[in-house]
Amino acid sequence: DDFFATVATKSDSGALRGDYSHADANYVVAQNWDSYTPEQHARWRRLYERQAKLIPGRACDVFIDSLKALDVSQGIPRFDRTTEALYKATGWQLVAVPGLVPDQTFFEHLANRRFPVTVWLREEREFDYIVEPDVFHDFFGHVPLLFNPIFADHLQEYGKGGLKALKLDGLAYLARLYWYTIEFGLIQSEQGLRIYGAGILSSGGEVEYCLSSDQPRRIPFQVERIMRTQYKIDSYQETYFVIRDFEQLFNDTEPDFTPFYERLKTQEALPADTLLAGETNLPPNR
Ligand code: PHE
Ligand code: FE
Repeated sequence: DDFFATVATKSDSGALRGDYSHADANYVVAQNWDSYTPEQHARWRRLYERQAKLIPGRACDVFIDSLKALDVSQGIPRFDRTTEALYKATGWQLVAVPGLVPDQTFFEHLANRRFPVTVWLREEREFDYIVEPDVFHDFFGHVPLLFNPIFADHLQEYGKGGLKALKLDGLAYLARLYWYTIEFGLIQSEQGLRIYGAGILSSGGEVEYCLSSDQPRRIPFQVERIMRTQYKIDSYQETYFVIRDFEQLFNDTEPDFTPFYERLKTQEALPADTLLAGETNLPPNR
């Protein structure tokens, strides 16, 4: 339900929502926190409350712990305050952006440990469903994970890898990796599957669905398999990929992707509901 674009769909999205007239060359704007209305802060609180209830026992530990420490239950947060804490923890900063930014700009921010956060909040009628990422998705979904040092390093490497993929014509493949990890990734824990993907964590319905439904496939993480696999942008995912831990995410994406891209260009993409012979389909949480 909570559908939004990422690097993958930016280029097709046509006219973008948001005020780009004050953006600098890196698409950075002032957050203008004082201009949020009481109604907007109240809507953030309701979004926060809905998600916060779903999170225990379902999100990964770092998400739960960071969210608690961030203390953003009362309204739209001030990005500069979060940056103070985040910079101390992992050397990342938040930058305010008007909305979606060009791929090159997005990757340059990540490669420099800057996470772009959209300034606008969804309207009331978009409470359950948005077409482009807003401040709730970007902040609530993505920022808590940036407090984990390994994840933080991985996302910077992803940014560098994005700049490289632009030159190698590999962006479509790399976007699938982003989608199935940063946005819709699951992780193992001693107690069962947990969520680390921001697209799930900011969604009202997919939090429960991805862990306990019998419908979707849950396949152990494999980089090249993911880069071959199409994904759904307007429904729950048909497949989730599961990492053992953040070290696996970091280590398995470290190799040079150049030969992967070359191979992938000669292969047919796999539909989102594929389960290949010999692949493990992990059971849902009970
Ligand atoms: N290792 C990748 C490459 O050589 C870069 C990358 C790192 C991509 C981490 C995604 C995540 O292109
Ligand atoms: Fe996102």
